[in-house]
Amino acid sequence: MKKRTFIKSGLLAMGALLTTRKSYPLEYYPMPSDRKWAVVYGTWCGSSRDASLWISEGMDGIANVFDVRENPDLSAYQHVIIGGAIRAGKVSQELQDFIAARKDLLKTRLRGYFAVCGNMMKPVGPEQTKLLIDDHIAALCGVPGLPSKVFLGRITYGLMEPDVRKQMQGYKMPEYDNLKRPGCLEFGKMVLQGIKV
Ligand SMILES: Cc1cc2nc3c(=O)[nH]c(=O)nc-3n(C[C@H](O)[C@H](O)[C@H](O)COP(=O)(O)O)c2cc1C
Repeated sequence: MKKRTFIKSGLLAMGALLTTRKSYPLEYYPMPSDRKWAVVYGTWCGSSRDASLWISEGMDGIANVFDVRENPDLSAYQHVIIGGAIRAGKVSQELQDFIAARKDLLKTRLRGYFAVCGNMMKPVGPEQTKLLIDDHIAALCGVPGLPSKVFLGRITYGLMEPDVRKQMQGYKMPEYDNLKRPGCLEFGKMVLQGIKV
């Protein structure tokens, strides 16, 4: 083969490779499984992402974990855990809209709910479960009575929108980190154990 033809065909092959290669979002699937589980979360500053990954970890890593802003297609998932961060008593608008648009699909696949909140750094109890899960997330989904957990989260000023940071600092709110991995693992394990297939 002539040198020029060789270079030309090499470049063509590289071009074909570059144009056909698709990019995929990173999938947190440490342990592939026939049981198709998804954890979908809404977050502002990421503590709910960590909670979601740890929930999956508690399920031996079989659940794929999605930020709701990825707009995941859940049709291939049999089992879904849904939840997220709380601001002004509510999950993010993106999560609310996601749930509203998929109520029918979610109805038969929802297996658990969670919320991540500050609760003024005080321990959470049945009152927060009623407020944030029963009267809010479960009500949005229209499926009551599923296993659920309210986790304490974090305040990290460096991750906040500047106006929100200013507002929170104005309240003299200190930074804190009350999210605990063992509680998230335990919740994931508990939800998985309740569903055998
Ligand atoms: C602007 C703002 C509003 C908040 N509102 C509430 C609230 O109403 N109730 C609550 O318990 N925690 C509230 N929190 C605390 C958050 O729920 C907590 O920081 C959580 O870990 C955030 O989750 P994320 O890191 O996934 O966004 C608020 C935090 C911020 C910054």
